Amino acid sequence: MDTDTPMEAEFDAMPGWTADAVASLGAGYAVPAACRGSASPAALTWLASRCRLEAGTRLVDVGGGMGGPAAHAREEHGVRPLLVDPMPGACRAARRMFGIPAVVGTGAQLPVVSARADAAWCVGVLCTTAEKAAVLDEIHRVLVPGARLGLFVLVADGGDGHGADVEGAPEGNDFPTRDELARLLDDARFRLVESVDLADLPGPPRSWQDRIARVDALVEARHGHEAAWQCTREQEERLSRLLGTGRLTGVLLCAET
Ligand SMILES: C[S@@+](CC[C@H](N)C(=O)[O-])C[C@H]1O[C@@H](n2cnc3c(N)ncnc32)[C@H](O)[C@@H]1O
Repeated sequence: MDTDTPMEAEFDAMPGWTADAVASLGAGYAVPAACRGSASPAALTWLASRCRLEAGTRLVDVGGGMGGPAAHAREEHGVRPLLVDPMPGACRAARRMFGIPAVVGTGAQLPVVSARADAAWCVGVLCTTAEKAAVLDEIHRVLVPGARLGLFVLVADGGDGHGADVEGAPEGNDFPTRDELARLLDDARFRLVESVDLADLPGPPRSWQDRIARVDALVEARHGHEAAWQCTREQEERLSRLLGTGRLTGVLLCAET
């Protein structure tokens, strides 16, 4: 499969391959393999509790990707999720693996009526788009007053100045600094409730890591020769190098309208 950009390779082609691998391995592999943001149940539990998710909560997952986080929230808390993502392949994979309603669209122009959502998530998305202010404005618009937004963001911590300039960053990524993120939330009229560094929470359990590794191995066996797979691997390696040097840090945040 040919794709035009690294983002399309990672977020459009890979989801279909992941859903194929899950179909071969079993449904128990779906949630771990489809969490591409934080990839950690402890992080999702932190976001769910801070966003006060409960049965029936209308949760909009902006940039929801293949739907792993939204499916986890539905399984654990009984929320009613709606996923929005610009990549058709991601939306198809979310519908196929989890039956979650998934709409192709950008966070900067959400296909959602104003004041309709009880909570929103935006997990690993703000660092992949330059449209941060527009995305946050739109999320504010669709939330009911007093509702909460859960975020996972990779922030540039290493003193490079603006995150978009981080050397060796995966293409298409645009990492805000912590200060920029705080300003963006403030400008969009969100009040920061709480934040925590991902590193301060327990990592994914062995069972999650094993399931992710099995899916990754099957996708590699089937598609490792394709340009989109090689491009995605290159992007992931760049990201883990930066995380290893401490120039990027994963941060979870909860903010209220
Ligand atoms: C790292 S993935 C995270 C996916 C998912 N939230 C998760 O945690 O598994 C980033 C996602 O953001 C989406 N994305 C990129 N730009 C976006 C935008 N402007 N609005 C909404 N989603 C966007 C990508 O298509 C991709 O699915």
